Amino acid sequence: MKADKLLIRNASQVVTCSGFAAKKGKAMSDIGVIEDGAVAVLNGRIIHVGTTRDILSRIYEEEYTVIDATGKALLPGFVDSHTHFVFGGYREEEFSWRLRGDSYMSIMERGGGIVNTMKATRESNYDDLWESGYVRLSDMMEMGVTTVEGKSGYGLDLETELMQLRVMKEIDEEHPVDVIATFLGAHAIPPEYKDRADDYIRYIIETVLPAVAKEELAGFCDVFCEKGVFSVKQSERLLRAAQALGMKPKLHADEIVTSGGAELAVKLNAVSADHLLRVSDEGIRQLAGSNTVATLLPLTAFSLCEPYARGREIIDAGCAVALATDLNPGSCFSCSIPMLIALACIYMKLTPEEVVTALTINGAAAVGRANTIGSIDVGKQADMILLRYPSYKFLPYHIGMNMVEITIKNGKTYHS
Ligand code: NIG
Ligand code: FE
Repeated sequence: MKADKLLIRNASQVVTCSGFAAKKGKAMSDIGVIEDGAVAVLNGRIIHVGTTRDILSRIYEEEYTVIDATGKALLPGFVDSHTHFVFGGYREEEFSWRLRGDSYMSIMERGGGIVNTMKATRESNYDDLWESGYVRLSDMMEMGVTTVEGKSGYGLDLETELMQLRVMKEIDEEHPVDVIATFLGAHAIPPEYKDRADDYIRYIIETVLPAVAKEELAGFCDVFCEKGVFSVKQSERLLRAAQALGMKPKLHADEIVTSGGAELAVKLNAVSADHLLRVSDEGIRQLAGSNTVATLLPLTAFSLCEPYARGREIIDAGCAVALATDLNPGSCFSCSIPMLIALACIYMKLTPEEVVTALTINGAAAVGRANTIGSIDVGKQADMILLRYPSYKFLPYHIGMNMVEITIKNGKTYHS
């Protein structure tokens, strides 16, 4: 076996997405295509990128395990930078209520929604959460995802929030896909704190956050900043407390109503502001002038029958956009990358190049990893995908179909 040395040669395209930071606005179109390209990998890291001719003149091919990628495109692995993939139970009934016309928020106000999954998660146990989470991660990997961000937020109490995060930590250690954990204790107000959002935020800040930090279970802290859930003020209080403990802020911002979530994200220099279906013009302007990635989740808009985020305008304004699935049991029970790509192009008017950037280097930036993943650059982790087709342009064109043939994670190959 020559598993530590891998050469992919004669790829019709190597799409590098080269870079070490999020790409904003027009720069999202620079994806760096090398025709008849090759990539050499040593011990899980990329050591050469170039044309096949160039690379073959620099290495001894016989030392390598070789993949002939003739007629196929090689891209960086996808980074799904916003998911809630560890949870107990399902909410299929609520989905049929929504089909009948009930809104997501009205179901939440009746005690369903996130609190419904909270109950199922509290009743679940470590092993069941581990098992179902692991399987979901494998489904994502089949579609070319090599790094996944996962949020807590279905425990809404100390014990269950910690359990969710510990499950993610163990899955990260055992599954080839990397898991980056985010603490989302402020996802909803649990029944014990009904009509006492301020008290709940205090409980999170004083009791849960320090425990999460002490065990080093999450590098990021997120909050559902939304009318009827947590206000801008409450969100700010929590995220500042998280920052003081070394966690970087993220926000569920302006998802259902315009509430200044994007502006708060910029004020706090958050890593990302996510959803943004109802972001204001001012919010877009501020995001464009910031380091905060605008993470758009078109599968959620589709599933909720809500208008899509203004993706085209957001990029044209100069923002860095990432795309993610938002996989969760309520608003979006899907981790379909092919469908996400189709929606982003057809309804949000992103170009195929912008979609590739949004799912790779910008997704990496949205989880603070643009230095190590998200592009095919020398020195980065060898996380790549080989498509069945000769061009990245097939991604939105072959609608809803998974065309990932091989996922390469840390230099190891996994066939879909
Ligand atoms: O990103 N909006 C808040 N959180 C999730 C939904 C979670 C759920 O419904 O279980 C979201 O859409
Ligand atoms: Fe979410």
